[in-house]
Amino acid sequence: MNYHVGVISGDGIGPEIVNEAKKVLDKIGEKYGHTFEYEEILMGGCSIDATGVPLTDHAIEQAKAADAVLMGSIGGNTSTSPWYRLEPSLRPEAGLLKLRKSLNLFANLRPAYLYEELKAACPLRDEIIGEGFDMVIMRELTGGLYFGERKTEEVNGKLTATDTLTYSEDEIRRIAVKGFDIAMKRRKKVTSVDKANVLDSSRLWRKVVEEVAKDYPEVSYEHMLVDNCAMQLVNNPAQFDVILTENMFGDILSDEASMVTGSIGMLSSASMNDTKSGLYEPSHGSAPDIAGQDIANPIATILSAAMMLRYSFDLDKEADAVEAAVKQVLKDGYRTVDIMPKETEKKSAFTQVGCKKMGDLIAERV
Ligand code: IPM
Ligand code: MG
Repeated sequence: MNYHVGVISGDGIGPEIVNEAKKVLDKIGEKYGHTFEYEEILMGGCSIDATGVPLTDHAIEQAKAADAVLMGSIGGNTSTSPWYRLEPSLRPEAGLLKLRKSLNLFANLRPAYLYEELKAACPLRDEIIGEGFDMVIMRELTGGLYFGERKTEEVNGKLTATDTLTYSEDEIRRIAVKGFDIAMKRRKKVTSVDKANVLDSSRLWRKVVEEVAKDYPEVSYEHMLVDNCAMQLVNNPAQFDVILTENMFGDILSDEASMVTGSIGMLSSASMNDTKSGLYEPSHGSAPDIAGQDIANPIATILSAAMMLRYSFDLDKEADAVEAAVKQVLKDGYRTVDIMPKETEKKSAFTQVGCKKMGDLIAERV
Protein backbone atom coordinates (compact mmCIF):
# COMPACT_ATOMS: atom_id res chain seq x y z
CA MET A 1 0.00 0.00 0.00
CA ASN A 2 0.95 3.62 -0.46
CA TYR A 3 0.51 5.89 2.56
CA HIS A 4 0.50 9.64 2.53
CA VAL A 5 2.07 10.81 5.79
CA GLY A 6 1.96 14.44 6.87
CA VAL A 7 5.16 15.28 8.72
CA ILE A 8 5.49 18.05 11.26
CA SER A 9 9.20 18.17 12.01
CA GLY A 10 8.75 21.29 14.11
CA ASP A 11 11.38 22.89 16.32
CA GLY A 12 14.33 22.01 18.53
CA ILE A 13 15.19 18.33 18.25
CA GLY A 14 12.03 17.74 16.17
CA PRO A 15 13.66 17.53 12.72
CA GLU A 16 16.40 15.14 13.95
CA ILE A 17 14.09 12.68 15.65
CA VAL A 18 11.56 12.73 12.80
CA ASN A 19 14.33 11.87 10.32
CA GLU A 20 15.11 8.73 12.28
CA ALA A 21 11.45 7.74 12.39
CA LYS A 22 11.23 8.15 8.61
CA LYS A 23 14.34 6.00 8.26
CA VAL A 24 12.63 3.21 10.21
CA LEU A 25 9.35 3.61 8.30
CA ASP A 26 11.21 3.39 4.99
CA LYS A 27 12.84 0.17 6.15
CA ILE A 28 9.40 -1.19 7.05
CA GLY A 29 8.21 -0.16 3.60
CA GLU A 30 11.07 -1.99 1.91
CA LYS A 31 10.56 -5.11 3.93
CA TYR A 32 6.77 -5.34 3.83
CA GLY A 33 6.08 -3.79 0.44
CA HIS A 34 4.63 -0.41 1.38
CA THR A 35 5.58 3.09 0.35
CA PHE A 36 5.39 6.05 2.65
CA GLU A 37 5.17 9.42 0.98
CA TYR A 38 5.98 12.34 3.23
CA GLU A 39 4.65 15.84 3.03
CA GLU A 40 6.23 18.40 5.33
CA ILE A 41 3.75 20.55 7.27
CA LEU A 42 4.87 23.72 9.02
CA MET A 43 3.80 24.16 12.63
CA GLY A 44 5.21 25.84 15.73
CA GLY A 45 8.16 28.22 15.85
CA CYS A 46 9.37 27.34 12.36
CA SER A 47 5.94 28.29 11.03
CA ILE A 48 6.03 31.58 12.95
CA ASP A 49 9.40 32.36 11.37
CA ALA A 50 8.16 31.48 7.88
CA THR A 51 4.60 32.80 7.94
CA GLY A 52 4.08 34.88 11.09
CA VAL A 53 1.63 32.39 12.63
CA PRO A 54 2.19 29.00 14.34
CA LEU A 55 -0.26 27.16 12.05
CA THR A 56 -1.69 28.35 8.74
CA ASP A 57 -5.00 27.27 7.19
CA HIS A 58 -2.94 25.64 4.46
CA ALA A 59 -1.14 23.52 7.08
CA ILE A 60 -4.49 22.45 8.55
CA GLU A 61 -5.68 21.42 5.07
CA GLN A 62 -2.47 19.43 4.52
CA ALA A 63 -2.94 17.66 7.85
CA LYS A 64 -6.59 16.87 7.05
CA ALA A 65 -5.67 15.47 3.65
CA ALA A 66 -2.93 13.17 4.99
CA ASP A 67 -3.62 9.53 5.92
CA ALA A 68 -2.00 10.33 9.27
CA VAL A 69 0.38 12.91 10.68
CA LEU A 70 3.72 12.18 12.31
CA MET A 71 5.13 14.93 14.47
CA GLY A 72 8.46 15.66 16.17
CA SER A 73 8.09 18.47 18.66
CA ILE A 74 7.42 22.18 18.68
CA GLY A 75 8.36 25.19 20.76
CA GLY A 76 11.52 26.77 22.11
CA ASN A 77 13.01 28.06 25.31
CA THR A 78 10.15 29.94 26.96
CA SER A 79 12.43 32.43 28.72
CA THR A 80 14.77 33.27 25.87
CA SER A 81 13.05 32.59 22.54
CA PRO A 82 11.45 35.59 20.79
CA TRP A 83 8.46 33.33 20.01
CA TYR A 84 7.41 33.76 23.64
CA ARG A 85 7.30 37.53 23.40
CA LEU A 86 4.38 37.21 20.98
CA GLU A 87 0.83 37.28 22.27
CA PRO A 88 -0.26 33.83 23.53
CA SER A 89 -2.43 33.00 20.50
CA LEU A 90 0.60 33.42 18.22
CA ARG A 91 3.06 31.27 20.18
CA PRO A 92 4.21 27.82 18.99
CA GLU A 93 1.93 25.81 21.35
CA ALA A 94 -1.13 27.65 20.05
CA GLY A 95 -0.47 25.95 16.70
CA LEU A 96 -0.65 22.52 18.30
CA LEU A 97 -3.84 23.33 20.19
CA LYS A 98 -5.41 24.65 17.00
CA LEU A 99 -4.43 21.53 15.10
CA ARG A 100 -5.89 19.28 17.82
CA LYS A 101 -9.14 21.21 17.67
CA SER A 102 -9.26 21.45 13.86
CA LEU A 103 -8.78 17.72 13.44
CA ASN A 104 -11.08 17.00 16.41
CA LEU A 105 -8.35 14.92 18.06
CA PHE A 106 -10.23 14.40 21.29
CA ALA A 107 -8.54 11.19 22.43
CA ASN A 108 -4.89 11.22 23.44
CA LEU A 109 -3.34 7.88 24.24
CA ARG A 110 -0.06 7.92 26.16
CA PRO A 111 1.50 4.63 27.15
CA ALA A 112 3.85 4.57 30.15
CA TYR A 113 5.71 1.31 30.21
CA LEU A 114 8.74 0.22 32.16
CA TYR A 115 11.26 -1.40 29.85
CA GLU A 116 12.90 -4.34 31.55
CA GLU A 117 16.21 -3.22 30.02
CA LEU A 118 15.84 0.27 31.49
CA LYS A 119 14.85 -0.65 35.01
CA ALA A 120 18.03 0.99 36.28
CA ALA A 121 16.83 4.36 34.94
CA CYS A 122 13.57 4.17 36.92
CA PRO A 123 13.72 6.61 39.83
CA LEU A 124 11.54 4.41 42.06
CA ARG A 125 12.90 1.96 44.62
CA ASP A 126 13.08 -1.71 43.59
CA GLU A 127 10.34 -2.81 45.98
CA ILE A 128 7.96 -0.27 44.38
CA ILE A 129 8.92 -1.28 40.85
CA GLY A 130 8.26 -4.94 41.65
CA GLU A 131 7.46 -6.79 38.43
CA GLY A 132 7.34 -3.49 36.55
CA PHE A 133 4.33 -1.64 35.21
CA ASP A 134 2.50 -1.03 31.98
CA MET A 135 -0.25 1.56 31.80
CA VAL A 136 -1.84 3.89 29.28
CA ILE A 137 -3.29 7.28 29.94
CA MET A 138 -6.37 8.13 27.90
CA ARG A 139 -6.46 11.91 28.07
CA GLU A 140 -9.32 14.05 26.79
CA LEU A 141 -7.65 16.52 24.42
CA THR A 142 -10.08 19.06 22.99
CA GLY A 143 -12.08 20.29 25.98
CA GLY A 144 -11.77 21.50 29.54
CA LEU A 145 -9.53 24.34 30.67
CA TYR A 146 -7.49 24.28 27.48
CA PHE A 147 -10.38 25.35 25.31
CA GLY A 148 -12.71 27.19 27.70
CA GLU A 149 -13.19 30.93 27.56
CA ARG A 150 -10.35 32.89 29.14
CA LYS A 151 -9.71 36.53 29.86
CA THR A 152 -7.63 38.90 31.90
CA GLU A 153 -9.40 42.07 33.00
CA GLU A 154 -9.28 44.70 35.68
CA VAL A 155 -11.76 44.12 38.49
CA ASN A 156 -11.89 46.74 41.26
CA GLY A 157 -8.52 48.05 40.14
CA LYS A 158 -6.86 44.59 40.26
CA LEU A 159 -5.84 42.50 37.27
CA THR A 160 -7.97 39.37 37.38
CA ALA A 161 -7.59 36.33 35.16
CA THR A 162 -10.25 33.73 34.42
CA ASP A 163 -10.02 30.32 32.72
CA THR A 164 -13.15 28.24 32.26
CA LEU A 165 -13.43 24.47 32.66
CA THR A 166 -16.41 23.17 30.70
CA TYR A 167 -17.36 19.62 29.70
CA SER A 168 -20.55 18.46 28.05
CA GLU A 169 -21.78 14.93 28.68
CA ASP A 170 -21.15 14.06 25.03
CA GLU A 171 -17.52 15.11 25.29
CA ILE A 172 -17.12 12.95 28.37
CA ARG A 173 -18.96 9.99 26.87
CA ARG A 174 -16.88 9.74 23.71
CA ILE A 175 -13.55 9.77 25.58
CA ALA A 176 -14.89 7.32 28.18
CA VAL A 177 -15.87 4.95 25.36
CA LYS A 178 -12.32 5.18 23.97
CA GLY A 179 -10.93 4.45 27.43
CA PHE A 180 -13.10 1.38 27.97
CA ASP A 181 -12.46 0.17 24.41
CA ILE A 182 -8.72 0.21 24.93
CA ALA A 183 -9.14 -1.48 28.33
CA MET A 184 -10.91 -4.37 26.56
CA LYS A 185 -7.71 -4.93 24.57
CA ARG A 186 -5.57 -4.80 27.71
CA ARG A 187 -5.98 -5.94 31.32
CA LYS A 188 -9.59 -4.69 31.50
CA LYS A 189 -9.23 -2.13 34.25
CA VAL A 190 -10.13 1.55 34.06
CA THR A 191 -9.20 4.13 36.69
CA SER A 192 -11.19 7.26 35.99
CA VAL A 193 -9.47 10.27 37.50
CA ASP A 194 -11.30 13.42 38.56
CA LYS A 195 -11.67 15.98 41.34
CA ALA A 196 -15.31 15.20 42.14
CA ASN A 197 -14.96 16.34 45.74
CA VAL A 198 -14.64 19.91 44.44
CA LEU A 199 -15.54 20.36 40.76
CA ASP A 200 -18.92 20.15 39.05
CA SER A 201 -17.23 19.14 35.80
CA SER A 202 -15.75 16.17 37.66
CA ARG A 203 -19.09 15.18 39.18
CA LEU A 204 -20.58 15.07 35.68
CA TRP A 205 -17.50 13.17 34.50
CA ARG A 206 -18.11 10.52 37.16
CA LYS A 207 -21.80 10.18 36.31
CA VAL A 208 -21.15 9.71 32.60
CA VAL A 209 -18.27 7.29 33.17
CA GLU A 210 -20.59 5.17 35.33
CA GLU A 211 -23.15 5.08 32.52
CA VAL A 212 -20.54 4.06 29.95
CA ALA A 213 -19.13 1.42 32.31
CA LYS A 214 -22.48 -0.42 32.20
CA ASP A 215 -21.78 -1.30 28.55
CA TYR A 216 -18.50 -2.95 29.55
CA PRO A 217 -19.36 -5.55 32.20
CA GLU A 218 -15.98 -7.25 31.75
CA VAL A 219 -14.04 -4.11 32.62
CA SER A 220 -13.52 -3.34 36.29
CA TYR A 221 -13.43 0.36 36.97
CA GLU A 222 -12.83 2.71 39.84
CA HIS A 223 -12.86 6.45 40.43
CA MET A 224 -9.80 8.12 41.86
CA LEU A 225 -9.24 11.71 42.88
CA VAL A 226 -6.47 13.36 40.92
CA ASP A 227 -4.33 14.24 43.95
CA ASN A 228 -4.50 10.65 45.14
CA CYS A 229 -3.64 9.45 41.61
CA ALA A 230 -0.52 11.65 41.56
CA MET A 231 0.53 9.96 44.80
CA GLN A 232 -0.40 6.43 43.69
CA LEU A 233 1.69 6.78 40.52
CA VAL A 234 4.86 6.91 42.60
CA ASN A 235 3.58 4.66 45.37
CA ASN A 236 2.18 1.72 43.40
CA PRO A 237 2.26 2.29 39.62
CA ALA A 238 1.56 -1.38 38.87
CA GLN A 239 -2.08 -0.97 39.98
CA PHE A 240 -2.88 1.02 36.82
CA ASP A 241 -3.96 -0.33 33.46
CA VAL A 242 -5.97 2.47 31.78
CA ILE A 243 -6.11 5.91 33.40
CA LEU A 244 -9.03 7.84 31.93
CA THR A 245 -9.00 11.57 32.58
CA GLU A 246 -9.74 15.09 31.41
CA ASN A 247 -7.38 17.37 29.53
CA MET A 248 -5.49 19.25 32.27
CA PHE A 249 -5.22 16.33 34.70
CA GLY A 250 -4.02 14.16 31.82
CA ASP A 251 -1.37 16.70 30.87
CA ILE A 252 0.08 16.63 34.37
CA LEU A 253 -0.32 12.92 35.13
CA SER A 254 1.15 11.84 31.79
CA ASP A 255 4.37 13.73 32.50
CA GLU A 256 4.50 12.14 35.92
CA ALA A 257 3.81 8.66 34.55
CA SER A 258 6.48 9.02 31.91
CA MET A 259 9.07 10.26 34.40
CA VAL A 260 8.30 7.28 36.60
CA THR A 261 9.40 5.00 33.76
CA GLY A 262 12.75 6.78 33.91
CA SER A 263 12.78 7.37 30.21
CA ILE A 264 10.61 10.15 28.87
CA GLY A 265 12.69 9.83 25.68
CA MET A 266 11.03 6.44 25.10
CA LEU A 267 7.35 7.29 25.31
CA SER A 268 5.12 7.69 22.30
CA SER A 269 1.62 9.09 21.98
CA ALA A 270 -1.33 9.04 19.63
CA SER A 271 -4.04 11.67 19.29
CA MET A 272 -7.12 10.29 17.64
CA ASN A 273 -10.60 11.23 16.46
CA ASP A 274 -13.39 9.09 15.10
CA THR A 275 -11.68 8.53 11.75
CA LYS A 276 -8.65 6.40 10.95
CA SER A 277 -6.37 9.41 10.73
CA GLY A 278 -4.49 10.68 13.77
CA LEU A 279 -1.52 12.66 15.03
CA TYR A 280 1.45 10.73 16.39
CA GLU A 281 4.11 12.40 18.48
CA PRO A 282 6.59 11.68 21.24
CA SER A 283 5.44 12.58 24.77
CA HIS A 284 8.52 14.72 25.35
CA GLY A 285 9.16 18.30 24.29
CA SER A 286 11.48 19.99 21.80
CA ALA A 287 14.55 20.12 24.09
CA PRO A 288 16.01 23.25 22.44
CA ASP A 289 19.11 23.04 24.66
CA ILE A 290 20.31 19.88 22.90
CA ALA A 291 18.97 20.56 19.40
CA GLY A 292 21.34 20.02 16.47
CA GLN A 293 23.89 18.05 18.51
CA ASP A 294 22.88 14.57 17.35
CA ILE A 295 22.36 13.40 20.94
CA ALA A 296 18.55 13.35 21.20
CA ASN A 297 16.79 10.04 21.75
CA PRO A 298 14.66 9.27 18.65
CA ILE A 299 12.96 6.21 20.19
CA ALA A 300 9.75 7.94 21.34
CA THR A 301 9.21 9.24 17.80
CA ILE A 302 10.02 5.86 16.27
CA LEU A 303 7.52 4.24 18.64
CA SER A 304 4.98 6.93 17.71
CA ALA A 305 5.46 5.91 14.09
CA ALA A 306 4.75 2.33 15.22
CA MET A 307 1.50 3.54 16.81
CA MET A 308 0.64 5.21 13.50
CA LEU A 309 1.18 1.90 11.68
CA ARG A 310 -1.03 0.13 14.21
CA TYR A 311 -3.90 2.56 14.74
CA SER A 312 -4.15 4.51 11.49
CA PHE A 313 -2.98 1.93 8.95
CA ASP A 314 -3.96 -1.34 10.70
CA LEU A 315 -0.42 -2.64 10.07
CA ASP A 316 -0.06 -4.63 13.30
CA LYS A 317 2.70 -6.91 12.07
CA GLU A 318 4.76 -3.94 10.93
CA ALA A 319 4.14 -2.10 14.23
CA ASP A 320 5.23 -5.20 16.15
CA ALA A 321 8.40 -5.31 14.04
CA VAL A 322 9.31 -1.72 14.96
CA GLU A 323 8.66 -2.32 18.66
CA ALA A 324 10.69 -5.52 18.59
CA ALA A 325 13.57 -3.72 16.87
CA VAL A 326 13.58 -1.09 19.62
CA LYS A 327 13.65 -3.77 22.32
CA GLN A 328 16.45 -5.58 20.53
CA VAL A 329 18.60 -2.48 20.27
CA LEU A 330 18.23 -1.94 24.01
CA LYS A 331 19.04 -5.59 24.66
CA ASP A 332 22.14 -5.19 22.51
CA GLY A 333 23.31 -2.51 24.92
CA TYR A 334 22.91 0.65 22.83
CA ARG A 335 21.85 3.78 24.68
CA THR A 336 21.43 7.45 23.90
CA VAL A 337 22.84 9.66 26.63
CA ASP A 338 19.50 10.22 28.40
CA ILE A 339 19.09 6.51 29.10
CA MET A 340 22.72 5.71 29.91
CA PRO A 341 23.21 4.68 33.54
CA LYS A 342 24.50 7.62 35.56
CA GLU A 343 26.98 5.57 37.63
CA THR A 344 30.41 5.33 35.96
CA GLU A 345 30.92 1.69 37.02
CA LYS A 346 27.72 0.65 35.21
CA LYS A 347 28.53 2.46 31.97
CA SER A 348 30.98 -0.07 30.60
CA ALA A 349 28.22 -2.58 29.81
CA PHE A 350 26.67 -0.15 27.29
CA THR A 351 27.52 1.64 24.09
CA GLN A 352 26.52 5.29 23.97
CA VAL A 353 25.27 6.37 20.54
CA GLY A 354 23.82 9.52 18.99
CA CYS A 355 20.43 10.14 17.45
CA LYS A 356 21.32 9.10 13.87
CA LYS A 357 23.19 6.00 14.93
CA MET A 358 20.25 4.95 17.12
CA GLY A 359 17.97 5.32 14.10
CA ASP A 360 20.34 3.24 11.96
CA LEU A 361 20.58 0.49 14.57
CA ILE A 362 16.80 0.24 14.91
CA ALA A 363 16.26 0.27 11.12
CA GLU A 364 18.85 -2.51 10.78
CA ARG A 365 16.91 -4.66 13.23
CA VAL A 366 13.54 -4.23 11.56
C1 IPM B 1 1.50 18.04 25.88
C2 IPM B 1 2.10 19.41 25.96
C3 IPM B 1 1.06 20.41 25.42
C4 IPM B 1 -0.15 20.30 26.31
C5 IPM B 1 1.58 21.85 25.34
C6 IPM B 1 2.81 21.93 24.46
C7 IPM B 1 0.53 22.80 24.88
O1 IPM B 1 2.48 19.70 27.26
O2 IPM B 1 1.19 17.59 24.76
O3 IPM B 1 1.34 17.41 26.93
O4 IPM B 1 -0.19 20.91 27.38
O5 IPM B 1 -1.08 19.59 25.93
MG1 MG C 1 2.24 18.10 28.63
